[in-house]
Amino acid sequence: MPFWTTVFVLCAAWPSALSVTRYSIAEEMDRGSVVANLAADLGLDPGGLAQREVKLDIFTNKKYLDFNKKTGELYIVEKIDREYLCPAKPTCFLKLDVIIESPLRIFNIELGITDINDNAPHFRRDRVELDVSESATPGERFSLPNAVDPDVDINTIKTYKLSVSEHFTIEIQTGSDGTQYVDLVLTKSLDREENAVHNLILTAVDGGVPVRSGTANIIVRVQDTNDNPPRFDKQIYTINMTENSPTGALVMKLNATDLDEGLNSEIVYSFTLYTSEKTQDAFALNPNTGEITVKGTIDYEDMKFYEMHIEARDKGAHPLLGQCKVVVHVTDMNDNYPEITIQSVKNTLDENIPVGIVIALVGISDRDTGDNGKVSLSIHQPMPFILNESSDRPMHYKLIVSEPLDRETVPEYEIMLIVTDAGKPPLSDNETITVHLLDVNDNAPQFPQSFYTIRVMENNAPGALLSSLTAFDPDLHENQYLVYFILEKEIANTSMSMLFSINPENGNLYALKTFDYEIEKEFLFHIEARDSGSPPLSSNVTVHIIIVDQNDNAPVIVSPWRAHGSVVEDKIPRSTDKGSLVAKVIALDTDSVHNSRITYQFLQVTDATLFSLDQYNGEIRTMRMFSYRDPRHQRLVVVAKDNGDPALSATVTIKLSTVETAVKAYSDMTEVPLEYDIFSDLNLYLVIGLGSVSFLLLITILVTIVLKCQKPKPSKAAPPSRNSVISERNSTVADSTLVSNDAYWYSLFLAETRKGKLVVRQPVPKGSRYIVSSIPRGTGLTETSDSAASTLQVWQNVN
Ligand SMILES: *[C@@H]1O[C@H](CO)[C@@H](O)[C@H](O)[C@H]1NC(C)=O
Ligand SMILES: *[C@@H]1O[C@H](CO)[C@@H](O)[C@H](O)[C@H]1NC(C)=O
Ligand SMILES: *[C@@H]1O[C@H](CO)[C@@H](O)[C@H](O)[C@H]1NC(C)=O
Ligand SMILES: *[C@@H]1O[C@H](CO)[C@@H](O)[C@H](O)[C@H]1NC(C)=O
Ligand SMILES: *[C@@H]1O[C@H](CO)[C@@H](O)[C@H](O)[C@H]1NC(C)=O
Ligand SMILES: *[C@@H]1O[C@H](CO)[C@@H](O)[C@H](O)[C@H]1NC(C)=O
Repeated sequence: MPFWTTVFVLCAAWPSALSVTRYSIAEEMDRGSVVANLAADLGLDPGGLAQREVKLDIFTNKKYLDFNKKTGELYIVEKIDREYLCPAKPTCFLKLDVIIESPLRIFNIELGITDINDNAPHFRRDRVELDVSESATPGERFSLPNAVDPDVDINTIKTYKLSVSEHFTIEIQTGSDGTQYVDLVLTKSLDREENAVHNLILTAVDGGVPVRSGTANIIVRVQDTNDNPPRFDKQIYTINMTENSPTGALVMKLNATDLDEGLNSEIVYSFTLYTSEKTQDAFALNPNTGEITVKGTIDYEDMKFYEMHIEARDKGAHPLLGQCKVVVHVTDMNDNYPEITIQSVKNTLDENIPVGIVIALVGISDRDTGDNGKVSLSIHQPMPFILNESSDRPMHYKLIVSEPLDRETVPEYEIMLIVTDAGKPPLSDNETITVHLLDVNDNAPQFPQSFYTIRVMENNAPGALLSSLTAFDPDLHENQYLVYFILEKEIANTSMSMLFSINPENGNLYALKTFDYEIEKEFLFHIEARDSGSPPLSSNVTVHIIIVDQNDNAPVIVSPWRAHGSVVEDKIPRSTDKGSLVAKVIALDTDSVHNSRITYQFLQVTDATLFSLDQYNGEIRTMRMFSYRDPRHQRLVVVAKDNGDPALSATVTIKLSTVETAVKAYSDMTEVPLEYDIFSDLNLYLVIGLGSVSFLLLITILVTIVLKCQKPKPSKAAPPSRNSVISERNSTVADSTLVSNDAYWYSLFLAETRKGKLVVRQPVPKGSRYIVSSIPRGTGLTETSDSAASTLQVWQNVN
């Protein structure tokens, strides 16, 4: 510790023997440092001091000094701080009295304390916060707190310094009392956005040696001013969005930035006046968050794009604006169903409408675009209609009849037209056209059969219903109403209307008269059904009426011949051989084949051992020779029974008388050259005809006999053979249609009896009367064939 002391003694002529001794020391001397040797300075005997009482009276509250009685030195017991002792005083003294007793002496001592630079300047606040508006102009001043230094003179504050700053400097001003004031001066405009806080250090420096300094932190906070507008990062935002986005869907979030802070950076978004009402109806803008959401319906078909002019405004006292534009392109979705428009349609068509006729015009449309709007039209099911797109009007179709139509097959068409677009998934719609076909008389009535065979029992009641001939016409209304009638033509000379009647309305066929199989066996005629269309159509059927035989005719016995009654008397030689033909019973039945098949039986026979009867050919023959014991008269009753059910029959009674001579029997051959009978009622001219024919026959026979007598006798006639007969007949009777008829010849052979030949004519085809004639027995078939043929020819002509 540097130790220096300035000792000076001031000898004052103080009347009370007071003198002041002055010393000067530096402050802050170490303890024990000797300030002065009072003994020496005051002229005291150091040896004598030890017994004397010495007292120091220091006029402070601290005991800085003490006195060493041995050495007489005044020394420091406590550091003296000038700044403590004499605060803020330029000079400083520490006064003390040294009181020595026995004898009492008082010494006044004045100790001058000199300053050393032991205090650094210091700021009362070492951290100063300063708010400076961003808008402050250069040159503006802000007071700063000053520092203090308790030292004095050069040891006190000499100057201030500020840390390097591009925006600030300091100016020091000295007040009238010499106090220094520091002002912070803005040298360059502040930008909060660049630097919001400036940290400055103010240093106060004293003038002592060494230099001491104190610092304070000056924190300049730049107060924001609304000098930055909100800014969007793009001028134009382009967004694609699909139509039909739901309400509330986020379109985009605007993010404008404002470099300012606080309210100056809080942004409110809004549409500007350039944004159309429609757009504002479609979109909502959240003023605080900047979110654009869907508010209304976004329909591509309505609006394809929207333009929003948006401003962002901060909340500064003098708000600033930023603007941007949002363009929303709406993309199409397949949300519109295609549509069918039936522009014209004919709902009723004649069924004979020609192919190729247009029956409807159809337009199709779809409000969507692209594939979603590509539409095609088709017919749901295969139908006799086709669609043909107009070449000049796209999306317009003609519905055309493509195949002949027939009401009777399909009376009504439900044409379902389906329109489909090409979207994914495709949408479709349909429309049905109903087409009714009107009837045209294009169908003739039709009978279920083309040929009717109707069997009618003979002896029918007049007016009986024979059959119902109903035709069907698939047409409608008058085209379907049928009228039936009998066609008169083709049936030669017979009025069918006299025989039959048909109900024109329902085709019921009635017989008007009673038919007799034995007279008429069949009828063939046509019935026509005609509809009432215009022109009418008709069709006909052939009706074949077959009269069915009933067993209504009893057999008639034609042989043996008898004029009246049923008893035939005949003579037979007693010497007749066994097996000789006695009689041949022939019965004829005019019924049809079945009913006319006849069997013969004995009803009564005098002696059953004598005669036999062939049940099929009716021949009665002897079974043995007559004896004298046999009665002379034999009575045979033969019944001829037909095959009907019930059977009808006829009987003949043959009375035979046995005679002794055989010759006599044949004498009556000439008696009956020709016998005839006509069954049933034979009209007059027939009788006349018969008579004349009988006459002609007689002449013919006579001529023949004459011719035969002139010719040499033929050796022996060949046994009659049917073929030879036919050939002969063919040569003699040309053109006879009857010659080749088996039925005729059959009858002819049958008719050969014991008495002669019986010629039976059974005309074919028309049922007519049987005409029977007999030819005398003994005339051989071959020999009489010519005459027989002639006879027949005559009969044919007559009838
Ligand atoms: C919007 O759609 C267009 C075509 O319509 C396309 O070229 C464009 O890239 C799309 N933009 C976005 C952001 O999807
Ligand atoms: C806005 O954009 C800035 C940068 O461009 C980003 O830091 C900020 O998070 C965004 N804010 C929102 C809400 O998106
Ligand atoms: C469709 O119409 C065109 C003319 O537009 C025609 O040439 C074509 O033959 C028609 N097709 C049918 C099937 O009718
Ligand atoms: C026709 O349209 C109706 C509704 O309009 C629908 O129910 C029906 O399924 C459609 N028919 C066809 C065959 O597409
Ligand atoms: C047709 O009938 C008439 C009488 O109605 C008759 O005079 C005529 O001879 C008959 N003709 C024939 C070929 O039968
Ligand atoms: C009966 O119909 C046929 C066709 O089925 C026809 O050829 C004929 O001429 C018709 N007859 C009459 C009399 O109309």
